[in-house]
Amino acid sequence: MKSTKMKKIVVSSVAIAVLMLGCEESVKTVVETKEVEKSLSAPQLGELLYKDRTLSLHQNMACATCHDLEHGFVDARFDSAHGGIGNRVDGALSEGSDNFALGGRNAPSAGYAKFSPEFHFNTNESRHVGGQFWDGRAKDLQAQAKGPFLDTAEMMMPSAEAVVDRVMENDLYVESFKTLYGSDIFEDKDEAYEKVAQSVADYESSEVFTTYSSRYDKYKDGNDSALSNLEKEGMLLFFANDNVSCKNCHQLDESPTAKHELFTNQMYSNIGTPQNISALKVKFGDAMNPADHIDHGLFGRSDIADFNITAAQDGFVKTPTLRNVAVTGPYMSNGVFSDLQTVLEFYDHMSGSNGDHPLNRETGEAWNAPDVNTTIDTEDLKIADGMNDAKIHAIEAFLRTLTDEKFEYLMPSFRAAP
Ligand code: HEC
Ligand code: HEC
Repeated sequence: MKSTKMKKIVVSSVAIAVLMLGCEESVKTVVETKEVEKSLSAPQLGELLYKDRTLSLHQNMACATCHDLEHGFVDARFDSAHGGIGNRVDGALSEGSDNFALGGRNAPSAGYAKFSPEFHFNTNESRHVGGQFWDGRAKDLQAQAKGPFLDTAEMMMPSAEAVVDRVMENDLYVESFKTLYGSDIFEDKDEAYEKVAQSVADYESSEVFTTYSSRYDKYKDGNDSALSNLEKEGMLLFFANDNVSCKNCHQLDESPTAKHELFTNQMYSNIGTPQNISALKVKFGDAMNPADHIDHGLFGRSDIADFNITAAQDGFVKTPTLRNVAVTGPYMSNGVFSDLQTVLEFYDHMSGSNGDHPLNRETGEAWNAPDVNTTIDTEDLKIADGMNDAKIHAIEAFLRTLTDEKFEYLMPSFRAAP
């Protein structure tokens, strides 16, 4: 830790000055100023914590492992085409620090996550809004960041105290925590753990996660040639009032001049996503019964099951942002689809128009049954004429333009027009 060493040198040379001058007061001020200069800001500290593998049980996994800064802020370890090592469920679920335990849901992108408002119930709309995780169970980024360190299928640390003990093994962390949060911060380990989470959240709120550098953003900044004609066609379809359904859930800002669209209304729905039977079999064995592994989404949360929320929101999950979606597959909260074409054919199937995609092209079989089939938002999913292959192709072209510049090279090559 280079900068800690540097600081010690600074401090000791000042200590010598004290001896020589015998003028304690003014020297103390000098030391304090130096300390502020040498210690980290909260986002800088958060960045180190976010990337630090020693904060997991086997010292092999960090937040950045599953929310990769070089790969759309998702878990790309399954992606052998880009240096990954493969994964038993093709990336649908993440493996934990023991390289074995599989989590319950697909890792969403941490990019643009800071814009999700604090989880709340909107009484006008009678709907839940915001929060982190597919079921919004963490009210904000700070609450979210306290989860993964202790999750038994993620970083697997035995306790908050154990995480703080690991933090305390690092001199630079110790100095920075004391400067940022008070010299007695480590006396209360729960409070110190809270500050670990707060620092990570401060880093996730930095511009690293929200660069708005996609071709779509360039187009919105006035560069008309940033998008091809096909991509523009897809964009018009996406935002059209009486055509495909996407804007019903994936548009936040209705203004036509809005720049930083997030492509999620930050609310929850059940769109009838098929169960990921093959991943469930890997996790629970071939003999598992899909009915025993229903994802109830919002309704599965014991903390809100008693009030406001009713069986009407059984199976609801949060509408994800579509920024960087071309590089963040597999898709859906259970990672059931590998590519965007399949996602779009699925929407055609769900459009209520007898769309002509009765089979899942990835399996060649009928779409699996959803977790919950009684609460599907058929109204918002309705597309009068369905989506033919030409529309699907154009919308897919458009979705690819939402990729931040840094990740463009990761995009799978685009298929020819149908
Ligand atoms: C083993 C993989 C793994 C690790 C390690 C991991 N996460 Fe996650 N992360 C996930 C999964 C899976 C979810 C979704 C879980 C759910 O919704 O139930 C998630 C959800 C999130 C979300 C919510 C995003 C959204 O749109 O709702 C954020 C933010 C996040 N993680 C940040 C972090 C931070 C910060 C760390 C480190 C403290 C971390 N993650 C460590 C897999 C991981
Ligand atoms: C009724 C609301 C609703 C409508 C309409 C809708 N979506 Fe979604 N979308 C969702 C929800 C909710 C999810 C997550 C579902 C899940 O995980 O089970 C999702 C997931 C996705 C995903 C996967 C993203 C990821 O990171 O896994 C894509 C891509 C997508 N939608 C694109 C579209 C497009 C394109 C349209 C229009 C054809 C559309 N959606 C219409 C609510 C909606």
